[in-house]
Amino acid sequence: MKGKAGRSIAAIGDVRAAVLRFCAEQLSRRLDTKPVEDVHQKVSACVQQVDPTMTPYIFGSTAVLGVHEQGSDVDFVCLSPADVQDGKGADAVSEVAKGLQSGFLFRLSEVVKREHYLWDIELVRRTRVPVLRVKGGLGADGVSFDVTANRRNGVRNSALLRAYFTQCPEARWLSMLVKQWSKKTGLNASVDGGCITSYGWNIMVVYYLLRRKLVKLVPVESCDVANIAPMPPYMPLETPQQDGQALAVMLMDFVNYYLDEFTPETEVMSLTRAAGETTKEMLSWTKQAEDMARIRGERIHYRWCIEDPYEFDLNVGRNVTPFKLMLLRKHLERAQETALLLLA
Ligand code: CTP
Ligand code: MG
Repeated sequence: MKGKAGRSIAAIGDVRAAVLRFCAEQLSRRLDTKPVEDVHQKVSACVQQVDPTMTPYIFGSTAVLGVHEQGSDVDFVCLSPADVQDGKGADAVSEVAKGLQSGFLFRLSEVVKREHYLWDIELVRRTRVPVLRVKGGLGADGVSFDVTANRRNGVRNSALLRAYFTQCPEARWLSMLVKQWSKKTGLNASVDGGCITSYGWNIMVVYYLLRRKLVKLVPVESCDVANIAPMPPYMPLETPQQDGQALAVMLMDFVNYYLDEFTPETEVMSLTRAAGETTKEMLSWTKQAEDMARIRGERIHYRWCIEDPYEFDLNVGRNVTPFKLMLLRKHLERAQETALLLLA
């Protein structure tokens, strides 16, 4: 079949079969969150020794999808009672706050080294957010994880994504399909030369669902850490309904939306306002802002704009350069032919 501009489009029957194969393969693996719960317990015990008032919260894919995909890393953030009580508060970004976070993570790293001498750990202070990295392998029960401190945004944005993905049975599958494709194509930031994090892809999936009115807008303010569980419960996945028909249609429509309907020149993917209402102009995400950032020594692009729901003035798509945008389009065109490479 041919689409716009004479491009070939995968036949929906083939897509449906491929999508079902993907889901069956996932379902044949272990997806429960028990391995994460075990690590959560071990991290909690170490945190307890450093500061018994602090609680480690899980965020990232385990919280967003409610499953643990083997090989996926796990994200922890240690929060104080004050962080939790003020569960809608903005995260501090000052150097002083970063210093305090590093201090806590350093003390935690000393305890972790003592208690789990086989774990391969590294304290990274120079990043935007100080983080303690623990590499999987036999030592850490095969699970790799990152620990940060005092930052609520990850917990809030994970709960927000989860609140969307639970509204529609196909949504979690779509998120997993898109994530896997973004990693295979090298478009995912976790791959060398990649540009959009899994987090960014998830916002893109939700924005698409909102544009198609397949989910209802969840007010960003409704996500309050005070009401979120430190270890969100496991949500088993089920074989897609209608023999995968709805999911296959959705997957092709997702590609189609970003290839032919979304207008990157003016539009911003945002979960803050009704879908379709946020423009680059409104946020002053312009060429001039790119130039100003360059003068400050930052490389920020406003070619593919994804507004972070909780961090002010942060484009989650800031690493999408004009060249990467062209690559993204090429991969989307190929995705239309191959159903996100499922038929490649
Ligand atoms: N996150 C964030 N801001 C970013 C990137 C990530 O707040 N710019 C937080 C989000 O809460 C996200 C979590 O970090 O859910 C983990 O990010 P990421 O690893 O990109 O997503 P996962 O869903 O964990 O995907 P993967 O399986 O690839 O690890
Ligand atoms: Mg992750």
